[in-house]
Amino acid sequence: MILVTGGAGFIGSNFVLDWLAQANESVINLDALTYAGNLENLDSLKGDARHIFVKGDIGDRTLVDELLAKYQPRAIVNFAAESHVDRSIHGPGEFIQTNIVGTFNLLESVRAHWSKLADKEKTDFRFLHVSTDEVYGSLSKDDPAFSETNRYEPNSPYSASKAASDHLVRAYHHTYGLPVLTTNCSNNYGPYHFPEKLIPLMIVNSLAGKPLPVYGDGQQIRDWLYVKDHCSAIRRVLEIGKLGETYNVGGWNEQANLNIVHIVCDLLDELRPKDDGNSYREQITYVTDRPGHDRRYAIDARKIERELGWNPAETFETGIRKTVQWYLDNQSWVNNVLSGNYRQWIEKNYAGRSE
Ligand code: NAD
Ligand code: DAU
Repeated sequence: MILVTGGAGFIGSNFVLDWLAQANESVINLDALTYAGNLENLDSLKGDARHIFVKGDIGDRTLVDELLAKYQPRAIVNFAAESHVDRSIHGPGEFIQTNIVGTFNLLESVRAHWSKLADKEKTDFRFLHVSTDEVYGSLSKDDPAFSETNRYEPNSPYSASKAASDHLVRAYHHTYGLPVLTTNCSNNYGPYHFPEKLIPLMIVNSLAGKPLPVYGDGQQIRDWLYVKDHCSAIRRVLEIGKLGETYNVGGWNEQANLNIVHIVCDLLDELRPKDDGNSYREQITYVTDRPGHDRRYAIDARKIERELGWNPAETFETGIRKTVQWYLDNQSWVNNVLSGNYRQWIEKNYAGRSE
């Protein structure tokens, strides 16, 4: 079996669902169920003995030691993290705790476990760390896309904490020989995306008749990847990735934020037209920019294509249509997510932003 951390979050839950749909290999899913963890994402696995959910913290050495000893997973895929840049600006402490201290504790448990394995199990063992393109900093309009050899220049507390965790993972390979792999991926979108992030927030606010808050001039560029393509990339890296290597994962799809919002509005105009015949675009509102907002991210995904034969299956056109349709078809998931906690966050993040 494999151990997945953060498997109740957006990407982790998509990964667990995909994994169990494709491989008959069990998953222990360790997740602290923070505001971002949602067991409803995994509802379709109810009664499936191949999915063992454990509520707990990656930084809890006693718990992780016990899980490793009991289940003897052949691999670990580490998704668990605080992942939202805006939250890291309002309160960086939890990012340091989970992304740095938590990853360190997890690595210590894994090192202790791995060093006692028999030769064959030791050689076959894998620790795959899921990271982000944000560690490379911000690009200008004409800069080449991020490759694996770009210098780390993180600009937000979130990306700095992810960069620190990447360095720890690298050091555990270099110093102790731990068989690690790291992936640095661009912006994901798709089902089960928590509606504090751009695309789901725009869908949810559009349907609720609320403003669509675009930060600054809306010309910041992100490189979007459909979440299931990210999952297939991780599976490929786990299967045949070279130990100690990092792989950039991206969708070859750079878009300005405003363009994303336009595409979402246009799809909703087509799939769920407003009663008054107006376009959802009329809800767009420009608000104060994110402090330290990175201007552009872009991933050069040629290494994973060349060395591991991975390519994304979805284009942005097909992926975003599926995503908007998923939110329309899963209104009860959305309604359950929009709890008191969620509303408090929205108030905190947008109250100080003048239009
Ligand atoms: P998410 O915020 O949706 O989910 C994170 C999950 O981790 C949640 O289920 C949460 O409960 C869990 N968690 C948080 N702290 C924990 C702890 N201390 N112990 C155990 N579980 C804990 O995040 P996501 O968007 O699914 O991102 C998953 C990973 O992928 C993160 O490491 C993130 O940095 C990385 N990543 C995300 C994106 C993206 O676009 N979302 C892109 C590239 C990389
Ligand atoms: O690049 C990978 C990263 O992508 C991941 O590492 C992070 O975990 C993930 O959250 C995401 O970070 P971003 O900051 O790029 O995602 P977010 O959806 O928060 O914002 C996308 C862009 O949209 C960004 O330029 C800010 C802008 N934005 C966001 C929100 C929430 C708005 O203009 N308005 C908004 O209300």
